[in-house]
Amino acid sequence: MSDKKWRMHNPSGSKRVVVTKELPGDRWLEILSRADCKVEICTSTDILSTEEIKAAIGDRCDGAIGQLTEEWGEGLFAALKAASGKAYSNCAVGYNNVDVDGATKQGIPVGNTPGVLTETTAEMAVALTFAAARRVVEADRFMRSGYFKGWLPTLFLGDLLWRKTVGVIGAGHIGAAYARMMVEGHKMNLIYYDLYQNKALEDYIAAYGEFLKSQGEELVSCRRAESVEELLKAADLVSLHPVLDETTHHLINTERLALMKENAILVNTSRGPVIDEIALIVHCQKHPNFRVGLDVFEDEPEMRPGLRELDNVVIVPHIASATIWTREGMATLASSNVAGILMGYTAWQDPDISPFLGDDPPRAAPSIVNAKELGISLFNG
Ligand code: DGY
Repeated sequence: MSDKKWRMHNPSGSKRVVVTKELPGDRWLEILSRADCKVEICTSTDILSTEEIKAAIGDRCDGAIGQLTEEWGEGLFAALKAASGKAYSNCAVGYNNVDVDGATKQGIPVGNTPGVLTETTAEMAVALTFAAARRVVEADRFMRSGYFKGWLPTLFLGDLLWRKTVGVIGAGHIGAAYARMMVEGHKMNLIYYDLYQNKALEDYIAAYGEFLKSQGEELVSCRRAESVEELLKAADLVSLHPVLDETTHHLINTERLALMKENAILVNTSRGPVIDEIALIVHCQKHPNFRVGLDVFEDEPEMRPGLRELDNVVIVPHIASATIWTREGMATLASSNVAGILMGYTAWQDPDISPFLGDDPPRAAPSIVNAKELGISLFNG
């Protein structure tokens, strides 16, 4: 065990589950207790090293819940396996920190927490959009510094987004939710880029356009771009929602930033390395009317030199999913993944995970990303 402080819940449980951070609410603990687990929770806010996690796993550990700040490589899964471990869950929807193939090789199911972050994360992307467009943070600093001497026609001019074009890169659940918020709320036209067509989103916006027309208002449009470049040139506002992998690493780089409008807005609530942060800093220094909202950073928790000095960038510490409902939901799903596997349940297949948040959850593990590869039986209702 590392020198970090740990606490124990349900010490009489016959299975041992290690949790590398405190999680919100009590429900997740009840779920693990009901599965006869003794739960050991690291109470430190420091990020645990791989060695510390290995030490925490020790000789006997049936399951673990970890965080996106930790590298869960094959070595850790081998340690978990050697300690008779049978289940791991990330307490996050994203799992780019997890070597899933390595876990599969060791026979360890890997869980994640989809379905409870969608609107919450999209709302933060909206918050960053307007904070950037309307210079909210700069103006707040100005006010607190006592510089406000009275209303001026030229004070803190920003950009109107109403009826302009929003570009969404990655039109999965979160990207589509953000797109709808901007289209429905601000009557923006949508251009999206994704490897897959999002027909449901396209149909929804077409129907919404018809509704606007029936009210005597102008239509809104939706189209799928052929390339990232096409989208960047067309959009007044770009929000990034792709998964991080080798194809999306530095998706936004010097060349692509140069294609964007000089006064465009760029928002990132996906993963930091999707943007080449050094290229972004140089671009923002040269283009003061280009505005950015960032929830994630290339080398978290560090920021590249120069970023903090930029007035045209709004920065928050990876909190896009930080609502009580979402974070408690993530904890519930992560614990249900581990408890479900330890109880020998099947793997849930429906993207709607809401039954797990109710009073009578299904006897299944809600989201096991390598269930098929491991031959875990799939839940069929
Ligand atoms: C996730 O779950 O992947 C998010 O980034 C956490 O906010």
